[in-house]
Amino acid sequence: MSNSNQVRQSVSEFYTQAVKSESGCGCGCGGGDAVPKGFAAQFAGYGDDVAGLPADAVANSFGCGNPLAFSEVKPGEVVLDLGSGAGIDLLIAARKVGPSGRVIGVDMTDEMIARARANAAEAGFANIEVRKGIIEDLPAEAASVDWVISNCVINLSPEKDRVFAEIARVLKPGGRMLVSDIVVQDVPAWVRESMALYASCVAGAVSEAEYVEGLRRAGLVDVEVRERYLYDFDQVRALIESEVPAEATASCCGPAPSSCCGGDTAPIDAAAIAAEVAQKVWSAKFHARKP
Ligand SMILES: C[S@@+](CC[C@H](N)C(=O)[O-])C[C@H]1O[C@@H](n2cnc3c(N)ncnc32)[C@H](O)[C@@H]1O
Repeated sequence: MSNSNQVRQSVSEFYTQAVKSESGCGCGCGGGDAVPKGFAAQFAGYGDDVAGLPADAVANSFGCGNPLAFSEVKPGEVVLDLGSGAGIDLLIAARKVGPSGRVIGVDMTDEMIARARANAAEAGFANIEVRKGIIEDLPAEAASVDWVISNCVINLSPEKDRVFAEIARVLKPGGRMLVSDIVVQDVPAWVRESMALYASCVAGAVSEAEYVEGLRRAGLVDVEVRERYLYDFDQVRALIESEVPAEATASCCGPAPSSCCGGDTAPIDAAAIAAEVAQKVWSAKFHARKP
């Protein structure tokens, strides 16, 4: 198996466990072991957008923002969600596009796909389709969607340039992208090389500048950061403590296998890591357009 496939498998195993567990954390969560399910959605700033949605979709929200907040998505349009998880953003998108529009989710984790389909059925949306696939090779036709959205997923990809190229491929001319994601700046190498911190959205994240350059290299225009949410020491510490269970530290082999296997099996010192990365990790919302 290639190194990239190993990373995807490891991430998928992590999210299979996360959706089955009682705590509600994923990327961008904060609050430690006592975090109730649904906390992540509050932290991501959904507000009234989640009113009336199935509780399971809200409880299993693992995002770090609300990509569709203040968006100009219109009835009848087609929205594609990369890494749709349990489906919270699919449901919000389905409300916006209405019965004449379509919403497609793509995820690689069976457990997540099943949840998203069940949540779409419970909410009564017949215009949501969830496809199994990887975001580096999207199961979607070229120039077929008006909007690409994603919430805290691209940081998890070991092949971000492939993802950016796929976004450019599937968007219709004039189509737009709204992505909430974790970015980092000046994080030390030992943090970036930790597979234990990879699935919790810290170690695989790139800088805002790298993100913007990657989107532009893919041929997208009007690339800009529209919102930022900076995590403080307590939030980063809570994120790490709630995200890195012992079994996650033991399952390794990430982008830097020589430094992960073995090294990550030592107990994680969340406070030390938080002290190192607080003010260097934030959630950003990126906008881009296909010319
Ligand atoms: C942090 S969760 C976010 C889920 C959802 N967007 C939300 O806001 O709740 C990451 C999701 O992306 C999926 N994922 C991660 N990397 C992926 C990849 N390379 N291809 C497809 N799905 C991926 C995982 O299976 C998981 O469901």
